[in-house]
Amino acid sequence: MPSNSEVSKWKYKKFLINKKNNFNKKEILQILSPNEIDEAYKTIKNWNNYSPTPLISLNKLNEKLNFNKIYYKDESKRFHLKSFKALGGAYAVEKIIKGNDKKVISTATAGNHGRSVAWGSQKNGLECKIFISEFVSESRAEVMRNFGAEVIRVKGNYEDSLNECINQSNKNNWQIVQDVAWEDYKLVPKLTMAGYSVMMKEISEQIKSEKISHVILQAGVGGMAAAMVAGIARYLDYIPQIIIVEPDSAACVLESIKTGKIEKISIEKESIMGGMSCGEVSLVPWEILRNSVHFCVTVSDDYISDIIKCLANKKFSEKKIIGGECSTPGIASLIGLSNDHEIKKKINLNEGSNVLLFGCEGDADAELYQKLLTQ
Ligand SMILES: Cc1ncc(COP(=O)(O)O)c(C=O)c1O
Repeated sequence: MPSNSEVSKWKYKKFLINKKNNFNKKEILQILSPNEIDEAYKTIKNWNNYSPTPLISLNKLNEKLNFNKIYYKDESKRFHLKSFKALGGAYAVEKIIKGNDKKVISTATAGNHGRSVAWGSQKNGLECKIFISEFVSESRAEVMRNFGAEVIRVKGNYEDSLNECINQSNKNNWQIVQDVAWEDYKLVPKLTMAGYSVMMKEISEQIKSEKISHVILQAGVGGMAAAMVAGIARYLDYIPQIIIVEPDSAACVLESIKTGKIEKISIEKESIMGGMSCGEVSLVPWEILRNSVHFCVTVSDDYISDIIKCLANKKFSEKKIIGGECSTPGIASLIGLSNDHEIKKKINLNEGSNVLLFGCEGDADAELYQKLLTQ
C-alpha cells in the first residue's frame, strides 16, 4: 500500500488544454439526439434486474486531496457483467435486430463489449460470434462462451480481430454489432453510446442538488467519454470541466485534440488497461469530443495495482470497492494533477471542487484482477 508521501509523488504523463473548446449543447445533441438518449433509458430501465449502480463518495481519498467531494460511479455492479459496457452492446443488439431472431450477431472486442453483445444475443435468442486478439485473456474468453457465444481468436491486435470480424461477417451476412464507428457504419456505435448515457441519467439523479465541477472520463476509442458528454448536455443544466484520461501508450484522443483532426497512433506497448489501449478515436465520439473536452491527460500503468488495492482495502472510501484496471486511471490522473500545483490552479481544482470519476469495471478479468491485487 503506498504511503501518503509516496502518493504525493505520483505524476501524470502528458497534459493538454483543448484550444478549440467550445461546449455546444445543441451541436452535441444533434449527434446523439435527446430521443436516442431517452429511448435507451426507457428501454434499459425495464430490463430484468435493472437498478442504478452506486455513486460512492471517495471520502478517504479526499482527506488527502482536499476537494469538496470525490464521487466514484461504481460500474462493477452493472447487472452481472461487471462493467458499463453491459449498457451498450446488449442494447444495440436488441435495437438493431428489431425482433428478427434469425440474425447471427458478430463483434470484435477487448473483452467487456463482447461480453455485453454475447449477453444481448443470448437474451434475444441469437447466435453470436466474437473475435478476439491474442491479447485478450482466456478468462475473458471463457465468460463470453458462458453467455453462449462462439469465440474466435485472431492472431495480432484488436485491429486485426476487427478486420477479421468484418471480413467473415460480410462473407456470411452476419450482423456486426461494433462499438467503433467508421464512415458508413454509425448507427450501431450510436446505439451503444445511447446505452452508456444511462450512467449520466443515474448520476444526475444521485448527485441531487450538488454540482459536478470536474469530470474525468476514460477513453479507449472515445465512445464512453462522448456518451457521458452527451449525457451532460441532456441531463445537466451546467457544464463541468471535462477531462479525458488515457493510457500514455495509447493517447489517441489527446493526439487528435492536439492537431484538431483524427490522428492514428501506433501503440508500441499495450497498456494493462486493455479496454483503453486503442490507437484511433472513433468517428462519432470524435464529433462530440473535439469541441467539448477541456483537457486531456495521460497516465502510466505504474499505479494500477496500488489503486486496485486501495479501493479493495477501503483506503479511499468507507466501502470496499472492486475496481479493475480500467477503473484506476481517473484516480491516478486526479492525484497526478493535484500534485502539480500550477496545473491544479489552471484547471480550477480546489477545495470547492466536486470531482466525478468512473469506476468503469470490476474484476471483469478475474485472473488479472487477482494478480494486480496481490502483486
Ligand atoms: C473496460 C473498458 N473498456 C473500454 C473502455 C473505453 O471505452 P471506449 O472505447 O468507448 O472509449 C473503458 C473505459 O474506461 C473501459 O473501462
